[in-house]
Amino acid sequence: MSSAVIPGSFDPFTRGHRYVVERAASAFDEIVVVVVVNPNKHGLFSIDERIALIEEDCADLPNVRVDRWTGLLVDYLTEHRIATLVKGLRSGVDFDYELPMAQMNRELADVETVFMITDPRFAHVSSSLVKEVAKLGGDASPYLSPHIHSRLLAVLAGERTV
Ligand code: PNS
Repeated sequence: MSSAVIPGSFDPFTRGHRYVVERAASAFDEIVVVVVVNPNKHGLFSIDERIALIEEDCADLPNVRVDRWTGLLVDYLTEHRIATLVKGLRSGVDFDYELPMAQMNRELADVETVFMITDPRFAHVSSSLVKEVAKLGGDASPYLSPHIHSRLLAVLAGERTV
C-alpha cells in the first residue's frame, strides 16, 4: 500500500491545502495529514481544533486521516513506516523554502518528498494571509471551507491575536 504524509501547521487548513490533499489522495492509497506541533509557536487555533477542522473538511475523502506530531518529522515517518512526504508548491519561493528541507529529510531518513503544484486559484493563499485578511475585516470566505471560515470569525471575535 502506498502511503504519504502531508505535514504542516494548518492554522487553519485552507482551500489550497484541501486541493493538495485531494490530489494526493488520488495518487496514493493512504494520506496522513500531520499537524506538526511547534512548541515555540502559539497558533490561533489549538492543535485539537485544527485536527477537528481538517477531519471535517476531508470527511469525503475515505483514504485521508489526520494525526499530530511533535518533534522531528522524519521520526514520525520512520515510526509509521511511511517513506514519502507530499508538499504543495505555490511558487518558486515555496520551492526555495522546501528544497533544503527535502534534502535534509532524505539525508536523515531516506524520506522522499513529492511536490504537487497547487491550482493557480490558490497560488496566493496562505493561512497567515487569510487570518490577516479576516482579522482586518476583509472577506476570507473564498479561501476556506464554510465551517472553517465560521470558526475563524468566532475565534477572532473572542481572541484578537493572529
Ligand atoms: O505549514 P508549515 O508551517 O509551512 O509547515 C512546516 C513544517 C511543519 C512541515 C516543517 O517546519 C517541519 O517539518 N517541522 C517539523 C520539525 C522538523 O522535522 N524539522 C526539520 C525539517 S528538515
